[in-house]
Amino acid sequence: MEYLNVTIRPAADADIPAIVEIENLCFVSPWKEKDFLYELNENPVSNLWVIELEIESQKLKSVLGYCDWWQTFDSATLCKIAVHPEMQRHDLGSAMMDEIYNDCLAKEILTLTLEVRVSNNKAIAFYKKHGFREVVIKPHYYDNGEDALYMLLEIGNYGSNSSN
Ligand SMILES: CC(C)(COP(=O)(O)OP(=O)(O)OC[C@H]1O[C@@H](n2cnc3c(N)ncnc32)[C@H](O)[C@@H]1OP(=O)(O)O)[C@@H](O)C(=O)NCCC(=O)NCCS
Repeated sequence: MEYLNVTIRPAADADIPAIVEIENLCFVSPWKEKDFLYELNENPVSNLWVIELEIESQKLKSVLGYCDWWQTFDSATLCKIAVHPEMQRHDLGSAMMDEIYNDCLAKEILTLTLEVRVSNNKAIAFYKKHGFREVVIKPHYYDNGEDALYMLLEIGNYGSNSSN
């Protein structure tokens, strides 16, 4: 029988190649290796985490996704969350969001905010499922001129979809 362990842990330098590979598969304007190294080693407010699958019988470990969020006093910003395209819709993104939420709660953070492309319907559905609400459109926010949707989660409203 296969034993599968899923772990969310702080990223290390050795995880950067896997993170960059997923980043290139998931984003139109991907961050580069140097951007993740900055987040990991220099940015004092960032939390760069990976989600890793371990298949015990094969002694195999694989990074399947990552997230990066910043804490500024009692507010937080979700900068990145991504799951390898072949592993999406298997609750890995939700597992990372649960971990972020629990850390925000422990650190007495009040709000978690983010920007998402208005065309990114699956991410918007994902955030709404976890209780984020739409606040405002930021026009021409991205390099290619696309608008951003600014969303906010009040910690305490996690997982309460307003349409329920
Ligand atoms: C957004 C993302 C991180 C979600 O991770 P995931 O592991 O696929 O999500 P989960 O399996 O935990 O899905 C949770 C919920 O999100 C929503 N969702 C996820 N994928 C979806 C899709 N393809 N279409 C519609 N809704 C989707 C659903 O509400 C889903 O709940 P359900 O399966 O009960 O319907 C992932 O789709 C991803 O990496 N996308 C590319 C990178 C990206 O756009 N990141 C966000 C940038 S702002």
